[in-house]
Amino acid sequence: MSIRIAGTGSYVPDRILTNADLEKMVETSDEWIRTRTGIEERHIAAPDQPTSDLAYRASLKALEMAGITGEQIDAIVVATITPDYVFPSTGCVLQDRLGAKGAFCFDLEAACSGLLYSLEVAYSLMKTHPQRYKHVLVIGAEKLSCITDWTNRNTCVLFGDGAGAVLLENDGSDGPDCVVASDLHTDGGYGEILKMPAGGSLAPASKETVEAHEHFIHMEGKEVFKLAVNAMVNAGKTVLEEAGITPEEVNLVVPHQANSRIIYAVAPRLGVPDERVFININHYGNTSAASIGLCLDEAVRSGRIKKGDNVLLTAFGGGLTWGAMLLKF
Ligand code: ACO
Repeated sequence: MSIRIAGTGSYVPDRILTNADLEKMVETSDEWIRTRTGIEERHIAAPDQPTSDLAYRASLKALEMAGITGEQIDAIVVATITPDYVFPSTGCVLQDRLGAKGAFCFDLEAACSGLLYSLEVAYSLMKTHPQRYKHVLVIGAEKLSCITDWTNRNTCVLFGDGAGAVLLENDGSDGPDCVVASDLHTDGGYGEILKMPAGGSLAPASKETVEAHEHFIHMEGKEVFKLAVNAMVNAGKTVLEEAGITPEEVNLVVPHQANSRIIYAVAPRLGVPDERVFININHYGNTSAASIGLCLDEAVRSGRIKKGDNVLLTAFGGGLTWGAMLLKF
């Protein structure tokens, strides 16, 4: 039996926040943001639009492409660090909206590596229980605007909201699987350099935590940058070796969109020229778990990814978490 990608979908909210808008909010400039990060604009959800709504809209498009209904989904994995609630999970909320009555659903938290981790889990479920899991919906969805400190120029220029969905299907045929190889990692020893300090069991929300801006993303950008490049290069090389393919055989690299300078540092070290690297950070900023899904859907719908293509995903994020995965479309 072959597990393939039967559908992709994405969604970003209508409201666009440009670099010029940010110039009016903090001491920054369009020039600094573009040259240091590659970001020109990002999309921001309405105050009353939760992560589950972004996920829902992206999921509908993936289901439509796959030609299935919510009732046919056997499991839903939502990668997010901005769930609607601590509980119930965003997966539960999404299940109800999609009418996916037969699906078991949960959230997976691995920051910007969330989509890769979720694809690994979904694929493993489908390989282990092929009769039970025929359609698994994987979504990366984030409303990062609600954990962004809009008074801190070090971070507020980086993030945006959105969702990207991938529908995996076991179609019963004998073709190749979509997940060819993967190499995923965690190093909790670096947890301090990228985190949201309060709101969990260690430091529950209080007047003090709110006043100290501890419900927002805190990041040591330079340190993260250095670690990100080496980690993604090493994972990417391992995956190519495991898959037994050369960099020339990679049709497209789809990296997590954190910073264009990180992306353009990783690709040549993997031996892949810039023209075979997908980048849309200019329009969306860093959308954490959503970013790779947003890229995949755009690449599929624009024809940059075609049937039979080898697509190398690379990701890096809070945890620290990182990895690479080779997909066969
Ligand atoms: N506008 C103008 N100046 C700024 C801004 C801004 N928005 N932000 C910082 N600066 C200033 C700094 O204050 C500093 O000034 P100083 O030299 O006078 O002290 C100067 O610009 C350089 O700052 P750096 O932090 O050294 O800038 P750097 O080139 O490292 O870029 C950035 C910062 C964009 C954050 C980069 O380090 C980066 O992209 N890091 C990785 C981010 C990442 O990959 N995160 C992982 C995923 S996120 C997640 O998991 C949720």
